Amino acid sequence: MTVQSAYNQWASTYDTDDNLTRDLDAQVTKSALENVHCRAMLELGCGTGKNTLFLAQLADSVVALDFSPKMLAQAETKVTAAHVQFARADLTQKWPISDHSVDYIVCNLVLEHIEDLRFIFSEASRTLTEGGRFFISELHPFKQYLGGKANFSQGSRAIEIPAFIHHVSDFLAAALENELRLIDLGEWWHEHDQNQPPRLVTFLFEV
Ligand SMILES: C[S@@+](CC[C@H](N)C(=O)[O-])C[C@H]1O[C@@H](n2cnc3c(N)ncnc32)[C@H](O)[C@@H]1O
Repeated sequence: MTVQSAYNQWASTYDTDDNLTRDLDAQVTKSALENVHCRAMLELGCGTGKNTLFLAQLADSVVALDFSPKMLAQAETKVTAAHVQFARADLTQKWPISDHSVDYIVCNLVLEHIEDLRFIFSEASRTLTEGGRFFISELHPFKQYLGGKANFSQGSRAIEIPAFIHHVSDFLAAALENELRLIDLGEWWHEHDQNQPPRLVTFLFEV
């Protein structure tokens, strides 16, 4: 199953399934970004708009991209503010965003599905303004080493979505190559994760 068709199938239950990673990501993103206010924000892989509702409070305008029409349809129902625009786009192709037009890029739980991080960072570097920031929240590689990847159930069938392991050094190398510098790194556990490896890793990069 392709990543796109998996998310089309998951879309109607993504927000309501039990999912500690999704819930922790929402919590961590709120605490990491609560003091941000910017002019133009870009959300990569917005999915059902779970974080878009919050991001809309932080920016004068938000463009939210995703390649799954069914996930986007959920997001469009949830977030109707006039300053938020959704668009269908494959993040592995040149993004439909002008050069140096975005102050803040936010990307949650998407990059495990994208093999080439260097392309993502080169597009971030192309589209960010001077001093612009790039926030990433991802399944921690320690979880990935243990076999963790995005998954959902369809009836009695468990569906795992194709994923690539990205080491912390892969993020840093791709950033460095594209002149983004790391200004914050976080590791996060859900309250049910006691004595487990961290569930999420977050990065904040700056141009
Ligand atoms: C786990 S969901 C995360 C959605 C949202 N960011 C959140 O935190 O709830 C991953 C999303 O990434 C999108 N995605 C994965 N690969 C993509 C690609 N190459 N281009 C655009 N969207 C992609 C999927 O369609 C899906 O909506």
